[in-house]
Formats: sequence, structure tokens, C-alpha cells
Amino acid sequence: MEAVKVGLLGLGTVGGGTATVLLRNAAEIQARVGRAIKITHVAGLGIANQTIVDPAKVKLTEDAFEVVNNPEVQIVVELIGGYTLAKDLVLKAIENGKHVVTANKALIAVHGPEIMQAANAKGVSVSYEAAVAGGIPIIKAMREGLAANQIQWIAGIINGTGNFILTEMREKGRDFADVLKEAQALGYAEADPTFDVEGIDAAHKLTILSSLAFGINLQFDKTYTEGISKITTEDMKYAEELGYRIKHLGITRKTDKGIELRVHPTLIPAKRLIANVNGVMNAVLVYGDAVGPTLYYGAGAGAEPTASAVVADIIDTVRQIDVPADQKVPLLGFKAGAMRDTPVLSIEDTKTAYYLRMSAEDKPGVLAEVSEVFAEHNISLEAVLQKEPNEGEGAVTLVLLSQRVQERNMNDAIREVEALDAIQGEVVRIRMEHLG
Ligand code: HSE
Repeated sequence: MEAVKVGLLGLGTVGGGTATVLLRNAAEIQARVGRAIKITHVAGLGIANQTIVDPAKVKLTEDAFEVVNNPEVQIVVELIGGYTLAKDLVLKAIENGKHVVTANKALIAVHGPEIMQAANAKGVSVSYEAAVAGGIPIIKAMREGLAANQIQWIAGIINGTGNFILTEMREKGRDFADVLKEAQALGYAEADPTFDVEGIDAAHKLTILSSLAFGINLQFDKTYTEGISKITTEDMKYAEELGYRIKHLGITRKTDKGIELRVHPTLIPAKRLIANVNGVMNAVLVYGDAVGPTLYYGAGAGAEPTASAVVADIIDTVRQIDVPADQKVPLLGFKAGAMRDTPVLSIEDTKTAYYLRMSAEDKPGVLAEVSEVFAEHNISLEAVLQKEPNEGEGAVTLVLLSQRVQERNMNDAIREVEALDAIQGEVVRIRMEHLG
């Protein structure tokens, strides 16, 4: 059987890893697929200096449109990232009847609806396994392995850079900026690292997972996003004392009123498996009504782990190349005509527990005053920690854990606590989930 011809757009960290894995494991892959997969074209800036593919066998170009317009190329693999050029290239490839594989979470989360519609109309596939949680085959698990279930909720550590930073801060007391620099040097971080630390990258991935879980459209603009740049080692220490760890989680949950879609630092019980996922590793916890909780773990970033997912998508595309489009697994897991319009809830309408830290005057009755505000708002407290004041300081640190409450209600209570004479400055609030 003739080899399937692949055009690669981008030969950076992930593109280089993809070419390396395809070449190194060519025999293994051919044995699995039944035919050879050949990179015939590669586009990238400064491509003449690359040392990964053999220029005698592969056509190299700086113009990515040359690849998507080449009639020989059957599968276009988009690994350049970003929104604009990547979108134009992917839409052009689809228009030209080519199957697409991409690792571009921003592209799928933001322009996914338009891209999926174009692909469905043309009868080609768009695969994006590498877009979420790097090497973990979570898209395949959601679309196929868990297809029997009504998914209840997902909670994931889906940004390797952020997890690496929180782990180093907790374990070694290292400085935030210093760890971020290391993550960049190791090729984990996004071109703009604020995407990692402010939760935008995780929000892109969560948008995709939520769509796959609940059959809703991709709605990145409705995903609540909060980063880790304000997390301190002090809060990590108090959380630890109370039996919790702080992780940057993407959480999506189906409720009676709609779907929660939120990325934020979260206290979770230290005894949970996912609380012990450290460094650049990712993990996604999926709760299905039939299966219960399932946990997927692996490297969330880096050249070859991400390439593992990209190449798996190429293999899947080749295996199904002759299957009629309407008989393939739907691009977002649900048939295009069966997608639902369940509303996505605003963050004020979500329900979660809270960790609260505040600085209070060291005098009798303050704790009672604070507790009274929460009681008036019907908020139950499940733990209170009062730290000894430092010598010469008139303030004590109070740490409270609340039970689950609607965020709007908690916001009102926090405003009232901050207005008490005995409370100094702002109340620090970190959301908390038990993931039981
Ligand atoms: N910057 C991303 C991360 C890369 O750190 O997880 C993988 O998407």
C-alpha cells in the first residue's frame, strides 16, 4: 500500500518532536497501521538550518501555504500555534480536502466551532489530542472510552508550567519568577508565559474538555480564569497544616442550573491522588455516572510527550482515511446535530467551599465577630486556625475553611468581614474542592 503523505507546519519544540518520533518509530507505526506514514513536506521559519529531516527526501519551505495547497499532502499537521495564521492555514487545508491534526488548544478553544463546521461540511477530520494535557490520551478517553457515561464533572491539572511552579514553591520554597524561567528553558511554557500562570492556557484546554463532556459548544469566552501569580508560600503552608494542597485546577461540572466552567487555584485534600501530581505532570480526574471517578496521568508538556499525542492522531487519521465521514467518531464526541445549549454559569452562580485568610487585631471577640458575619449569610465554617502573632505585631492571622456556598453569597460575606474595624486589609480567598 502506498505511504500516506504528511505535511508538517512548524518544526519547533513539538514539530521537531513529532518528526523525531515519526522517523524513529516508523517500523513500529507501520506495523500498527498497515502502511507507511511519510513526512513529505515541512514548513518553518529558518527551515534551511534544520537537522531533523533529510532534505533529500522532504520538501522544505518557509511558506506554510505551499504545504496546505500541495495536492500530494493528505494530512496537514499544524504545530505553529497562535490564532491567526494557524486558523487561515487550517481552514485552507480543510477547503483543500485535507485531514488536519493540530496541537493548538487556543485555536480549537476559540475558533473550534468555525473549524469543526468547515471540516464537517467537507467530510475531513480535525484531530487535537495534543491540545489537552500533552501526552495523556484524554480526548480519546472522553470521546470513546467514556462514551457510555453521563459525565458529572472533570477536575484537571492541565498546565504543566503552573504545576511545576507550584510544586517547586511548595517543596523547595523557590521564587515564582525563578521557577518560571526554568520552565521556559525546558520548553514547557507558552510563547507568552502569562498564558500559563494566569490560567489562559488551562482555560483553553478546559473549554475543550467541557465540550466533550457535556456536548456543549466550545465557549472559551465563558470560562472563568484566575491564575497562580498571587499564591504565596504562606498559604501553601497553612493549607498543608489543614491537610490540603493548592493546585491550579480546571473544573467543569454539570449542575441543575447549568455548567460550571472555571480555572483557579484550588485547595484539595492532600490525600487525593491528584494532589500528589507534581512537577510538569498533568492529571485529569473525570467522574462518569457509570464508571465513577477515573484518573488520567502523564506528561502535560515537552517535545516528545506532546509528539506522542500528535503522532497518535496521525495514526488514527490514517486508520480511518477510507471511512465515510458520517461513520467516524464525531469531532467533539457528540453528533453535530445533537449538541446541546445548556447554559454556562457565571462564577457568581457556582458553588464551592473556601479557604479564607485575614489579618485581625489581636483582641478578644474578633473571631466571634467574624463568625457572626458568616452565620448571618448562612455560611458554615468547618475549620478555624488562629496563628500566634509575631513578636511586636498587634495582628494575628486567621485562617477559615467554609463549607460549599454560592460564590455571590461568599462575596457579600467577605465584603462585610473586610469592613469590620478589627480586620486589616483584604481577605485572601482560595476556592476549595473535596473531589469526593
Ligand atoms: N504551556 C503548556 C503547559 C504546554 O505548560 O502545560 C502544553 O500545553
